[in-house]
Amino acid sequence: MEVIAAKASNEKQGYKIKITENGPYIVSGNVPLSEKIIVPKGKSYEFKEGRELPQSEEYVLCRCGKSQNAPFCDGTHSKIGFVGTETASKKKYEDRAELRGGPAVDLLDDHRCASARFCHRETGDAWELTRASDNEANRKEAMQAAKECPSGRITAIIKTGEIIEPELEPSIEIVQDPEKGVSAGIFVKGNIPIESADAQIYQIRNRVALSRCGQSENKPFCDARHTSIEYFDRKGNIK
Ligand code: FES
Repeated sequence: MEVIAAKASNEKQGYKIKITENGPYIVSGNVPLSEKIIVPKGKSYEFKEGRELPQSEEYVLCRCGKSQNAPFCDGTHSKIGFVGTETASKKKYEDRAELRGGPAVDLLDDHRCASARFCHRETGDAWELTRASDNEANRKEAMQAAKECPSGRITAIIKTGEIIEPELEPSIEIVQDPEKGVSAGIFVKGNIPIESADAQIYQIRNRVALSRCGQSENKPFCDARHTSIEYFDRKGNIK
């Protein structure tokens, strides 16, 4: 059975993302940092490696979208008076998500879309495949589409009630999206605790996308706003 339970919290290893008030993300615990580029592969997508980024025990990532040294904070947020008020619900995913039922697999969907498009597969998207999951190939593809969603918007549940999660090592990915001509969000993998400016821990999740364009209406999470504002971080190799 292709079921891998999400790893327990990585708090004990010291991984942490601290959101500062109207300022950047402070990442601590030696979390691997990389740049990833979204590239089409047929009707689906894959990641290619981007620039090599420096690694350190602690680093500070821009949240306002205006740093001249993206993805790192260069202090611009204070000069521009960035307002980074966190507006996202702190309710659990399971309580926020809507259940989309299919014949052989169900889908939880919390609508927190980062526009990464990994829910698209050769034969349909995650919702279409879920509805057609009485076919074994579609069932597998629906589960794959859900597992690959980097924002954690969708999650597949098989009929025994087991949640399908990929096994992901703690890491942070700075994402570029050349097909759309924009820089995308920050993909956080592997259950890294995220602490709000007012010192509350968001639900710890295996897959989540943070905003770095400064314009999300669901801060700190990405709501795909980077596409409509055409956010470009000036450092990514996308234009
Ligand atoms: S958050 Fe500091 S420059 Fe953007």
